[in-house]
Amino acid sequence: MVQSRTKLLYDPDMTSSSHFGFTHFGFREVPEGDKQRLVGGVFDAVANRYDLMNDVLSGGMHRLWKAALVDWLRPRPGLQMIDVAGGTGDIASRVLDRVNGQADITVCDINVSMLNEGRRRAPGVPIHWLAGDAERLPCPDCSFDAYSIAFGIRNVTHIDAALREARRVLKPGGRFLCLEFSAVILPGLDTLYDLYSFKLMPLLGDVIGGNRDAYQYLAESIRQFPDQQKFAGMIADAGFSQVTFRNQSAGIAAIHSGWRI
Ligand SMILES: C[S@@+](CC[C@H](N)C(=O)[O-])C[C@H]1O[C@@H](n2cnc3c(N)ncnc32)[C@H](O)[C@@H]1O
Repeated sequence: MVQSRTKLLYDPDMTSSSHFGFTHFGFREVPEGDKQRLVGGVFDAVANRYDLMNDVLSGGMHRLWKAALVDWLRPRPGLQMIDVAGGTGDIASRVLDRVNGQADITVCDINVSMLNEGRRRAPGVPIHWLAGDAERLPCPDCSFDAYSIAFGIRNVTHIDAALREARRVLKPGGRFLCLEFSAVILPGLDTLYDLYSFKLMPLLGDVIGGNRDAYQYLAESIRQFPDQQKFAGMIADAGFSQVTFRNQSAGIAAIHSGWRI
């Protein structure tokens, strides 16, 4: 029997982003080599409305979650930082605001449409815009004091490879922070959240963002991502120390922290 190259799949226990040459793209299982192109298609399609849609879909909550990440980072003037899967540079701008522009920040993203949108929105903001893959960062070892990734790692094909890269580019003593959608911990809220994610979100994505499929993918990719504890284990397996996490909005999102020692 010939195996279908694209299958429908929902495996909430899947902790690896990839197995037997296949990986998940939302609830679909696709050949590993196809995922990056499919993810690229999603972000090409939404780049010019990405920031607006973030506000609409999260009811502005993503701003609080990103502020919580910057609070936990406690950036100091002179910080050398990379924000991976940094998209339009939202995290980078927030960190720069916090230190009055006194930080050296690189935004790295695989998608040039997202980087161009960021450049267009923030002319003159001192950010280095870098095209690159989280799994193979175009940066030397031990380059940064801090590495952040917000709502990016679940789109990466090999999460373990991206985590190892994070560690590689951090200096000893460097800080890893990841903001990602996670598992809701409040009974009852999970049912409401499912309704919202699978019914309302694709509808809003269609009406406001002009792309239903991209927001269906968003909902599905969130459910496929490992929960707080499992993801903390993956970060530790990549060699980080003192791995902890803080839930945001009852686990709708979580921020994970680790240190390279
Ligand atoms: C949901 S957006 C998040 C953007 C930004 N961090 C934010 O919080 O607003 C996800 C980003 O991940 C990027 N991305 C996906 N796969 C990537 C990879 N392998 N390496 C680097 N960036 C990637 C996408 O191009 C997209 O810009």
